[in-house]
Formats: sequence, structure tokens, C-alpha cells
Amino acid sequence: MKRMTILGSTGSIGTQTLEIIRDNPEEYSVYALTCGKNRQLLAEQIAEFRPVRAAILAEADAEALRERFPEVEILAGSEGIREIASDPAADMVLNALVGISGLVPTYHALQAGNTIALANKETLVCGGSLIMGLSEEKDIPILPVDSEHSAVFQCLQGFEEKQVKRIILTASGGPFRGKTREELAGMTAAQALKHPNWSMGSKVTIDSSTLMNKGFEVMEARWLFDMPPERIDVVVHPESIIHSMVEYEDHAVMAQLGTPDMKVPISYAMGYPYRIANNMEPLDLVAAGTLHFEKPDMETFRCLQLAFDALRAGGTYCAALNAADEVMVGAFLEGKAGFTDIQDILERVLDLHKPGSGNDLEAILHADAEARRLAEQLLENR
Ligand SMILES: NC(=O)c1ccc[n+]([C@@H]2O[C@H](COP(=O)([O-])OP(=O)(O)OC[C@H]3O[C@@H](n4cnc5c(N)ncnc54)[C@H](OP(=O)(O)O)[C@@H]3O)[C@@H](O)[C@H]2O)c1
Repeated sequence: MKRMTILGSTGSIGTQTLEIIRDNPEEYSVYALTCGKNRQLLAEQIAEFRPVRAAILAEADAEALRERFPEVEILAGSEGIREIASDPAADMVLNALVGISGLVPTYHALQAGNTIALANKETLVCGGSLIMGLSEEKDIPILPVDSEHSAVFQCLQGFEEKQVKRIILTASGGPFRGKTREELAGMTAAQALKHPNWSMGSKVTIDSSTLMNKGFEVMEARWLFDMPPERIDVVVHPESIIHSMVEYEDHAVMAQLGTPDMKVPISYAMGYPYRIANNMEPLDLVAAGTLHFEKPDMETFRCLQLAFDALRAGGTYCAALNAADEVMVGAFLEGKAGFTDIQDILERVLDLHKPGSGNDLEAILHADAEARRLAEQLLENR
């Protein structure tokens, strides 16, 4: 029986993780759950999965949950989430938080020696060097949950990593593939939230529509697989059947395929090295028909190019890009910024960023705060 802690249990990845646990009660149980604001859903999850501990951001919500579930230890705030992340009683911590809120809990979970299944890509986007250094020092591997990285991880099994020539990440291209910059300028949040293949949280869905998400995945791949950016390629594959590929020195290319369903990569990380059986529809290649591939348009979708630029610049550039993106996606969702404002302001923030050490948690959090301030200022004055 594996006892799971799920950080961000009320989100898209968190709820799908709980579905896997619900379907496999002999092998998995819930040790702890955390969420941001969704007290009602957290209460339903506590009632069903009976964790030992839980945490929610607001103290008032924590107090209400303590009254309803006196047998469960309910913590509050980011400190409560951090304490749960670093509790060694769990066999695995699955980090499904969104944004930079995931970085510090991953750091503390690793410090405590906990095995991590990582969906929160911002952990590696902002703190890749720091976190991978800690993972190596503690000898704790980080198991990827993101579908592309899970695909790469699966394509590496049984092969010599030293013989990898390049990683090829696939991208659906998002809902606006093929549009011109002029057309993009008028796109609304409702249109951007309609992802063609995946159902995800709002932040990652908007990031998919700008290709920022693919840029973040390039950064994640750089750190997870210790691969320089020039050996990471992105290819647009609108059907999302091939989840990513690895090319070896002999030009053999390994690919991982499947219907787009996050439960496969989530359960691969949970069960690694074993696979967890499920009842989902098998991949029907004949029904899928022709698979298409094209080069990403990095001129129009600037965010992907900016991600490569930030990665090459090093230091805290990636953390600054992420922070500005969190501000801009929030503003776009609230109707306070246009679609192309996102990339325009991110570019300005990168130009103005004063980098610090990407190996130092304080410097990363400082860069995050500064880039947020700058993005908000640029947004106000545009
Ligand atoms: N969804 C996908 O299919 C997918 C695929 C690949 C990778 N990812 C990555 O996985 C991560 C999670 O994505 P998601 O789509 O599941 O996000 P989501 O649906 O927005 O869920 C985020 C979770 O984090 C909690 N949360 C948000 N802000 C928080 C804060 N400041 N402090 C503590 N908890 C906070 C939310 O709680 P409340 O809702 O209760 O406020 C929720 O439980 C992201 O890094 C994303 O890029 C997602």
C-alpha cells in the first residue's frame, strides 16, 4: 500500500490523481491533501479519502474544516502546505500545485527525503538547477507527470542516456495554431480556454494557447534530463497522439503514443517502475488516421522563443519569465490585457530583468517578486 500526499488535490491533476487512487484501493491510500481556496471540494475529498492531514490557505477555512473533521489534522497557509510536503510519513508526494507556489513545497519535500511525482512544472522552470542539485545530493529521483516528460522518461527506460542525441517535444499547437499576429490580438479568454485535445486548469490552458507552456516544458526537459537547449526540439503535432520522442546517436527515434489522457502519465509516475492497469479506451491508430507534424511558428508565438532565450541566458531569467507570465495570464483571464499583450510584456520584462543566481532559493523568490512588480507596472503603463 502506497500512502500518497497530494499537493493541489482540488485541481485538474489533483482530482485525476484521486480518481486513480479510487480505482486502486488495494495499492494506494491518501495520507494528506492540500488545496488553495476550494474548501467545499477539499471537504468532499476528506470525507471520501479520510487523510491523516490536510491543509488549506485561509485560516478561516481551516477552522471550519477542523470543526467538521475533528479526527483530521488541518493546517493552514503556505506554511501548512510546506509542512505537509515535508512530512516523511507519506511514501510519495505528488505536487499538482500551479505556478511558483509549487517550488518551495518541492524543495522542502526533497530536503525531507520524500519521493516526488512532479506535475508542477514551475518548480523546474524557476528552480531547475537548485532542485535537480538537491535531488542528486539526496539521491531522490524526480518522477515527471507532465505528459511530454513522462513520454521522454518512458522512451529512456532501458537505454543509455549518454547516447541520447536530442529530445523532441511534441506540441498540439493550441487553439490558435496558424493564426497571424493581427488575428491573435483579438482573441478572448473564452476562445483561449478551448484547448483542442486536453482538459486542464486555466493557467496551463492559456499557456498552451500562447505556446508559453511549451517553452516551460523545454525548460523542464532541460533540467529533468540534463539536456542543453540546443538538443531540445519542439515539433507541432496537432493530434497529440505522440506525446514526445527521444532520438539516439544511431538516429533511432523512440516515441511514446496514446490517447491524450493525463491519467496515463500520472499513474506511470505513481506506479513507477510498474504500470497501473485502467479501463480507458485503447488507442485506435486506424481511427486516428494520418498524423501531422509542422514547425512551431516562433515569430508569431513569441513566448516559445522567449523561453529558449531565457534558458540560454541562465540565472533567474526563467523565474522572471514565469512570474511575468503568471501576472499576464491572470490579467488576460480578467479581461485586463489582450492576448498579444502577454508576449509583448514578457519580452520587456526579460529585457529589463537584473539576473541573480538560479541556484539560490532566496534569489529566485526575489527575481519572482521583482518580475511581478515590473509586469504589473508595464501593464498599467501600456
Ligand atoms: N492539468 C493538466 O492536464 C496538466 C498537464 C500537464 C502539466 N500540468 C501542470 O500541473 C500543475 C497543476 O495544473 P492543474 O491544471 O491541475 O492546475 P489547477 O487545476 O489550476 O489546480 C491547481 C491546484 O493548486 C491549488 N493552488 C493554486 N494556487 C495555490 C497557492 N497559491 N497555494 C496553494 N495551493 C494553490 C489549487 O487549489 P484551489 O483550486 O483549491 O484554489 C488547485 O488544487 C501545473 O504546473 C501545470 O502546468 C497540468
